[in-house]
Amino acid sequence: MADFPQIHAAWQRRRALVREQRLDAWRLVHGAADGMEGLSVDDYRGRYLITVEAEAWLEDRAGLEAALAEVQEELRPAFAPKFYWVANLPKQRGALPGEEIDRFEVVEDASRFEVHLGEGPHTGLFLDQRENRREVCKLAKGRRCLNLFCHTGAFTVAALQGGASEAVSVDLSKNYLAWLERNLELNELEDRPHRSVASDAAAYLERAARGGEVFDLVILDPPTFGRGKGSTFSTIRDYGRLLAACLQILSPSGRILACLNTRKVAAEEFRDFLKEAAKTARRKVLRRPAPPPDFPETAGAPGALKAYWIA
Ligand SMILES: C[S@@+](CC[C@H](N)C(=O)[O-])C[C@H]1O[C@@H](n2cnc3c(N)ncnc32)[C@H](O)[C@@H]1O
Repeated sequence: MADFPQIHAAWQRRRALVREQRLDAWRLVHGAADGMEGLSVDDYRGRYLITVEAEAWLEDRAGLEAALAEVQEELRPAFAPKFYWVANLPKQRGALPGEEIDRFEVVEDASRFEVHLGEGPHTGLFLDQRENRREVCKLAKGRRCLNLFCHTGAFTVAALQGGASEAVSVDLSKNYLAWLERNLELNELEDRPHRSVASDAAAYLERAARGGEVFDLVILDPPTFGRGKGSTFSTIRDYGRLLAACLQILSPSGRILACLNTRKVAAEEFRDFLKEAAKTARRKVLRRPAPPPDFPETAGAPGALKAYWIA
């Protein structure tokens, strides 16, 4: 790792975490917080997703791969690592030519998830949500859960593993909902009370309120830019409408996990905005959970994901 001592340092900082928690999928390099601005590296059981936001990181790809291979040598000596490069540059976006697509499972605590490497930036599992999935699992027992923008259903799996009385998962994409079904099967949860709804989230919330539906646990994790007609989340104002609709269908003892994924809005700004919305509904915003240890935040390098619980 001679040319990339930061990789060695990043591994030193995470070694105990990865070992103790037996993590299959975790972040090795988190940009500026690990002294490598514009670069992130995620390990999915020996397959590395290398995301480049600064062109300079493409100059010595072989050197970087060699440094990453040394980490795998220690972690999984019998496995030859694979490298999946993704560009997130002004002129170039998406997967760079390289390894063939790989689809396989990773384990997180007691859950299994199907992940895809080589199809671009999204693998099917958001690693920065690990602690929030754990919290959902802990809170879910006997609760009716709504997972909005559910994607491949990682939060749905967590809620059902935790003993949710029922879960409803909403996403515009039928492909992601099919992936969610596969994740439920992987965890032998397919017979548990669960409903997938292919719908725009805002439209679903309207129908749910009209139908008198009530939920005890709501996960609100929209993309920064939505694809639904007339529903982009480019501004925090759009978020406000969604949140108000969630508060309307929340049971008196219910909780909302409100997430926002952008570096453009600071955590404090998001918290103040949530506080305002919660006050009108006579609810409270709880403390922000600490970011996962493999996604460290520093003053100069705030994280993209902000998540708060509303009770
Ligand atoms: C950032 S992902 C959500 C991640 C998810 N919470 C998780 O932890 O895996 C955003 C998801 O929102 C879906 N989506 C985008 N616009 C939508 C809309 N208007 N209504 C419902 N789902 C939408 C996308 O298909 C995608 O699966």
